[in-house]
Amino acid sequence: MTQPISHALALDRSRDARARERFVSGLRGYVLNDLAGAMREDFDSSVAAGVENEANAGPMDGAGVHRAIRKRAIFKAYSSARCTAQQMVWDVVMDSVERQRERLNAAGKELMNGASAGGTLELDPSLGIPRYVEAVDVHLMPGCYYREHGGEDLAAGAIYDQGLNVFAFGAMGKELNDIGWSMANFYKLRFNNPAPGRILDAGCTIGHNTLPWKQVFPDAEVHGIDVAAPCLRYAHARAEAMGIEAHFHQQSAESIRFPDRSMDVVFSSMFLHELPRKAIRNYLAEAHRVLKPGGVLLNMELPPNDRMAAYEQFYLDWDSYYNNEPFYKDFRDQNPKQLTTEAGFSADAYFEGVMPRYTYTAEEDFIAMAQAGPKFGEDTGRLSDIIFWYGFGSVKQG
Ligand SMILES: C[S@@+](CC[C@H](N)C(=O)[O-])C[C@H]1O[C@@H](n2cnc3c(N)ncnc32)[C@H](O)[C@@H]1O
Repeated sequence: MTQPISHALALDRSRDARARERFVSGLRGYVLNDLAGAMREDFDSSVAAGVENEANAGPMDGAGVHRAIRKRAIFKAYSSARCTAQQMVWDVVMDSVERQRERLNAAGKELMNGASAGGTLELDPSLGIPRYVEAVDVHLMPGCYYREHGGEDLAAGAIYDQGLNVFAFGAMGKELNDIGWSMANFYKLRFNNPAPGRILDAGCTIGHNTLPWKQVFPDAEVHGIDVAAPCLRYAHARAEAMGIEAHFHQQSAESIRFPDRSMDVVFSSMFLHELPRKAIRNYLAEAHRVLKPGGVLLNMELPPNDRMAAYEQFYLDWDSYYNNEPFYKDFRDQNPKQLTTEAGFSADAYFEGVMPRYTYTAEEDFIAMAQAGPKFGEDTGRLSDIIFWYGFGSVKQG
């Protein structure tokens, strides 16, 4: 179910805590596989067949599926169980973090002071938390990414790390870093000539998907930026614990403090769907500014709605309605190509890809699928037994 986290900040959980985590992971697996499957069957045999479809006057989109399906008992059971399981993810993990807060903060401090891997941390207490981060506990995570509990606190980072582990029920790689491995290797296949010298990860949280870039490109200088200090402290301490050099900075992606034309790659993962439209545009314009000519923008994200069938639109947008993800659907309703061209990238340089999880796929299969061009299906971006990640981006012209 969960994968053991093996670095030195891993929580030392009691047997009871581990049993509770296994239960919650199992519950999520049941909801997302079994109940979701039953809901789909119910939809196909009732709503989609027109039996109870008020919207059958015209083609149905995701919002139409949502309107029609929300009256069904199976949808209510699925949604209720999924909301409860989401809250339980944080509850079980916070209990362990509370018990070990002092040990965790002390271990973090020691790792940060030692900095044996050569990484750095640059915090800016004057940086304001954007309203869109501050106003909601995103995906129901109490305290969100940024809330501090005094001193040099790392708790939000620890909650996110083990919380994601329980949430992902073993589907996101050993150190929850499969997205980073998949994207860095996708980049390597498509653009690695010459190998990148400087890489920036925007909205890096605790660096799950920042560090694989250093592992794939050991000679590169790798930077992560985020607005949330406790996550950045944890990111730095975690990187040092794992012996991987990376540099973390408290900066907003809307106003990046790196010089023009200083980066070979600007990467983000699962970041844009948590931003309102204006912030997405500001970030992409900043990405364009800091990239060198020939530099690559690569965003791993949820797939756009206009590339998915109506049911998959509904299924992924569920989070927007019920999981404190206010910008999720709005992001998916936008056109990624248009977003990059508005930011100054050439339309001709736009690319997108759908790829299998790198750490679970044979190298030759990964290469074949990543090079085949985007194929959108019901497993694209959806946490299930088989996941295909989606990424889009562009190359900055001279
Ligand atoms: C879903 S998490 C990203 C996950 C992370 N990229 C990963 O792959 O594990 C969103 C992150 O974006 C950060 N964030 C939100 N607005 C930001 C901004 N304007 N600049 C930088 N980071 C921001 C949040 O603090 C949070 O850590």
